[in-house]
Amino acid sequence: MLSKRILFALSFWFVLALAVTGCAVPAAAPSGEEAAAPAGGEAAAPAGGGKLEVFSWWTSGGEAAALQALFDAYSAQYPDVEIINATVAGGGGSAARGVLQTRLAGGDVPDTWQVHPGFELIGQYVDPGYVAPVTSLYEAEGWNDVVPEALRTMMTKDGEIYQVTVGVHRGNGFWYNKQLLADNGIEVGATLSVDEFIAIADPLVAAGVTPLCVGDSGIWATAQLFENTLLGTIGAEAYNGLWDGSVRFDDPGVKQAMETYGKMLNYQNEDHSALSWDQAVKKLMEGGCAFNSMGDWAYGEFVNAGLTDNEEFGWVSHPGTAGSFMIVADGFPVGNGSANPENALNWLKVIGSKEAQEAFNPLKGSICARTDCDRAKFGVYHNWSMDSFANDALVPSVVHGSAAPADFQQALNDAVTVFVVDKNVDAFADALVAAAQSSGFGQ
Ligand code: BGC
Repeated sequence: MLSKRILFALSFWFVLALAVTGCAVPAAAPSGEEAAAPAGGEAAAPAGGGKLEVFSWWTSGGEAAALQALFDAYSAQYPDVEIINATVAGGGGSAARGVLQTRLAGGDVPDTWQVHPGFELIGQYVDPGYVAPVTSLYEAEGWNDVVPEALRTMMTKDGEIYQVTVGVHRGNGFWYNKQLLADNGIEVGATLSVDEFIAIADPLVAAGVTPLCVGDSGIWATAQLFENTLLGTIGAEAYNGLWDGSVRFDDPGVKQAMETYGKMLNYQNEDHSALSWDQAVKKLMEGGCAFNSMGDWAYGEFVNAGLTDNEEFGWVSHPGTAGSFMIVADGFPVGNGSANPENALNWLKVIGSKEAQEAFNPLKGSICARTDCDRAKFGVYHNWSMDSFANDALVPSVVHGSAAPADFQQALNDAVTVFVVDKNVDAFADALVAAAQSSGFGQ
């Protein structure tokens, strides 16, 4: 299903992931092969009961509704298992990941938890031995035929697969309030450039309308605004080059993206730092601002509020990013040494199924991780996103853990925190060059 072009785009930064995270394995850590948890489909006999702790950061209205759809699918098959919904609020996992690391380091291992493939899965959980391989589950369920190779590669180390992905988000969405724009005589076309956005935003400001909704009480949300602006300015090829060291963070194109990001910030709502990402989406729905740059978990908020694709809300790729799909995929592993590994393995079996993915993704905004979901069960946005995934350049998100190691992700958040105040492009670029060097990807 995936073209060689796409496979190439994904494989080079995954190889990088292996190279970088391979250096970070603690000497005393158990390997996946030594995992106590069962390692495949044959171990997944129907569970008689007990508990299943599912750890995630899915707490917004849309996220919680989608998670419930997965719980319902699981309970339909395993009615006697008590599900413990262990959530830690904070979009993008900004708070959850720290709590999880503390638990894992203390041996208090959840049965399963939310994870992004790529660096986050491999570096934070596979290398330290916190998760068990589930390769034989893929074989038993025939998933190697329906999960794109590019995705499987992102979940694999040394020939073992460690995650079941339930959905693939498109990170570079630019959502808008259709009525508010119509009231101001604005119609958005199939694509939007930065200049076109500015040509819309200035008259909106003059009319007393806030052009951009931002909810960055969690800094990741404005870091994502930068990430999307970076992709939109330098394009997919150069963006991918940042992660293999062939493009530097002080490249003139990157600096231009920083300038543009600085300009975009001038269009944001004054209360941005008091709002979470989903509160910013709510503000957009209520007409408090016009556009929101966000992954398509924002779609889950629209749907949860009872809105319909292309009626109350519309979307376009973040300015300049048409033709690219920023991958933010969600999945779950089996905790190595958790209390209920058999129930966890059955959880993975359920969420990897076509039925569960067809129930979950329409509510969440993401598309299926499998290629055989029935398109008729999805609305206009999802079908648009599926086409984008099949045809566009796939690029990894650093803000959501796939493109670079955790220390770079943190350094980006720190540099953005400084930049939103001082708008100093040279200092921003220098900070990212230094962070890339210390994270080990050249420059
Ligand atoms: C996750 C999404 C989630 C979003 C906001 C992302 O990192 O992949 O599933 O909805 O954060 O919390």
